[in-house]
Amino acid sequence: MPSVYIETYGCQMNVSDSELMYGKLRSEGYETVDAPQGADVVLVNTCAIRENAEQRVIGRLGELRRDLKPGAVLGVTGCMAQRLGPRLLETDTRVQLVVGPDAYRMLPALIEGARQGERFSATDFDLEEHYEDFTARRFEGVKAWIPVQRGCDYRCTYCIVPTTRGPERSRRLADVVRETREVVAQGITEVVLLGQTVNSYHDGTHDFSDLLRAVGAVEGLRRLRYTSPHPNDFSDRVIAAMAETPTVCEHVHLPMQSGSTSMLKRMLRRYTREEYLDCVSRLRAAIPGLGLTTDIIVGFPGETDEEFEETLSLCREVRFDDAFTFKFSAREGTPATRMPAEWTVPPEVVDARYDALFATLRGISRERNMARLGERLEVLVEKEARKGEGLYQARSRDFKTVLVPGTPESVGTYLHVELTGTTGATFTGTPVAERHALPMAG
Ligand code: 5AD
Ligand code: SF4
Repeated sequence: MPSVYIETYGCQMNVSDSELMYGKLRSEGYETVDAPQGADVVLVNTCAIRENAEQRVIGRLGELRRDLKPGAVLGVTGCMAQRLGPRLLETDTRVQLVVGPDAYRMLPALIEGARQGERFSATDFDLEEHYEDFTARRFEGVKAWIPVQRGCDYRCTYCIVPTTRGPERSRRLADVVRETREVVAQGITEVVLLGQTVNSYHDGTHDFSDLLRAVGAVEGLRRLRYTSPHPNDFSDRVIAAMAETPTVCEHVHLPMQSGSTSMLKRMLRRYTREEYLDCVSRLRAAIPGLGLTTDIIVGFPGETDEEFEETLSLCREVRFDDAFTFKFSAREGTPATRMPAEWTVPPEVVDARYDALFATLRGISRERNMARLGERLEVLVEKEARKGEGLYQARSRDFKTVLVPGTPESVGTYLHVELTGTTGATFTGTPVAERHALPMAG
C-alpha cells in the first residue's frame, strides 16, 4: 500500500480539506502516515492569508526536500497552490503537484501521473464541488469540522481568499444534516460548521437559520458552533435561530477588523462602527452570557492615529473575551496593493500599534475572566494540556479554555467545574457535582 502524509497550515477550512483528501486517498488504497519520512506521497496543504504564512511553507518545502525518500511525490495544495499555480512548479523544482482547493477530486490521478515523473498544476474553480462523495478521515476525536460553504463573495480589499477559494457556494442542507448524523453516530458530540462567511449560507432553499435549526436538532448532538460569520449576515432570523436552538453554543467569533468607519470603508467591510456595535448589541440581547471574540488588523493602508484610536475605543466598548490581532500584510493582486504608496504605514508605527492593541485586549480579557472566578459551568474535555502533569484542556460553551484534572479516558466527556483560577487568558477548574433539578411532585 502506498503511504500519504499531509501537513496542514492555515485555518479550519484547510484542516477540514486535509481530512477530505486523506479520506479520498484512503478510499483509493493509500495508507495514512503521520510523518513525511518514508511516505510515498507528501502533500503540504497551504495558507496564503499573510506573507509570513507563505514564507513558512517555502521554508518547510526546503526541509522536506531533504527528508523525503527518493522517488516520493511532493505536492502543494490549498490557498498558496491556488494563488501561485504553475509559478510554484518553476520556483521549486522538487514540487511535482500544485493543486487548488476545488481540484482535490483529481488528486489520485495526478499523484499517479507524478509517480511516473510528470508535473502538474490544477487550479480551476468548480462551483459544483463540495466533495459530497468523499468520506472525511477525521483525526480530532472530540469535535467534527463540517464545511457548509466554500469560497467568498465579499471583496474585503486586504483579503486574498476570494482569489484562492473562488466564489461562494453552499452545500445542501440535507447533506450537512446527513454528515452531522454520521459523525454523531461515531460518538462525536460537538460540530463546528465552517464557511468563509458562514452565516451568509444559502442553498437555494434554506438560509443559515434553517441550517442551525436542522443541524442543531440532530439527536445526540450536544454542541453546535460555527465560524466565521460576517456582521452583515446576522439577520434577525439567524440570531433567533441561534438563541432558540439549545445545542448552539453561546459564542460568536465576529471579525471586526477595525473600529473606524473610514478605515472599514477602505477595507470594503460594508459596515460602519455603529453597525458593528449594533450587531453586537442584538446578539448580546438575544443570547445571555454570549462569549465574543474577534479578528483585528492594524496598519492597513492609510490608518491614521485617530483611526487606530477608534479601534482601541471600540475594543473597550465591546469588551471582547478574546481577539486575534494581525499586522496588515499586502497580498499581491488584492485592491489594497493598489492604494497610494504614501498610505503605507511605517513598520515601526505598525509595531507600536500592534503592541498597544494587544495590551488593551489582554487587559480587557483579564478583567472579564477575573470576574468569573467561582462560576460553575459545563466543559467538554478536548485533549491533554500542553503543560502540567495530569491536566487536560477543556472548553466551556462560551469558548473559554479551562484546564481540568483528568485521564486519557476523560477526553470527550463533559464535566461540571468551578472556575478556581485564571492566568488572565485561561482558567483552571475543579470538578463539582452536577446540580440536579428536583423531580416534580405528582
Ligand atoms: N493582512 C493581515 N491580516 C489579514 N487577515 C486577512 N487578510 C489579511 C491581510 N492581508 C486577517 C483578518 C481575517 C483573519 C482570518 O486574517 O483579520 O479575519
Ligand atoms: Fe489561509 Fe484563508 Fe486559505 Fe484558510 S481560506 S487557508 S485562512 S488563505
